[in-house]
Amino acid sequence: MKGIILAGGAGSRLYPLTLVASKQLQPVYDKPMVYYPLTTLIEGGIRDLCLISTPQDLPRFQQLLGDGSRFGLSIEYREQPKPEGIAQAFLIAESFIGRDNVTLILGDNIFYGGDVFARAFADFREGATIFGYHVNDPERYGVVEFDASGQAVSIEEKPKQPRSNYAVPGLYIYDNSVVATTKALKPSARGELEISDLNVAYLRRGNLRVVRLSRGFAWLDAGTSSSLHEASAYVQTIEKRAGIKIGCPEEAAFHSGFLQLPQLTERVAQMPRCEYREYLEREVIAEARRLA
Ligand code: G1P
Repeated sequence: MKGIILAGGAGSRLYPLTLVASKQLQPVYDKPMVYYPLTTLIEGGIRDLCLISTPQDLPRFQQLLGDGSRFGLSIEYREQPKPEGIAQAFLIAESFIGRDNVTLILGDNIFYGGDVFARAFADFREGATIFGYHVNDPERYGVVEFDASGQAVSIEEKPKQPRSNYAVPGLYIYDNSVVATTKALKPSARGELEISDLNVAYLRRGNLRVVRLSRGFAWLDAGTSSSLHEASAYVQTIEKRAGIKIGCPEEAAFHSGFLQLPQLTERVAQMPRCEYREYLEREVIAEARRLA
């Protein structure tokens, strides 16, 4: 399974923060936002990644993540010149996807809790798998409706009158037919290849699985000033209470076996003295040595 991180868009809702750095590079408490979705993919065992962003912002992501080897990954980069929809990612990344299955994560989606995605990646065979999460304001999202037996029956993008409270979070899993299916989509009224239209295509074919995320799971949105602030507060609360970090790609890469202890130690030694480095030394490296 390959992984795409989509970190495009104008970030207009975060203006003026986004005048000089894109939304997905803004801090969420103690890390750049993109570290969180990156960590979600690493925890799910995904090692071959492609990051898509605007021509202006792409160099910044390259500076931040390099070729991925610092996390034991391979990261390729592709440009999305204009914001023409989330599903366009599959056309931009066609050569990267090749013959594989692929998961797409949005660069501003923050997930925390459990191993539901890792299991979904491991169990995935064909069709598409998406998720449903109960929210207060479904009209802001793709909305999935279930029948009495729990089967998904409709998906609508930002409906004025949502048929349920289940929003579709920005993590999607597709088989290799996703490229051909996207090519058959027509742009929506706002001129975009909509991810919800793609999911409807799989639903109509009877090839869509929708997994409901449980109450204990956190899905945070960081697209407005206030939700960005709330996401930071959430991360700080958990990190302070538990003494662990959320969204630490080096730690996840070590636990997924992408980085071995000597490589991690070398990488950490190159970091400036800071709280992030001390965390990796204390909670990851020293702990691994103690258990060895
Ligand atoms: C996009 C998708 C929407 C999805 C959401 C998740 O909306 O179009 O279906 O629920 O991401 O974050 P956007 O945030 O781009 O408005």
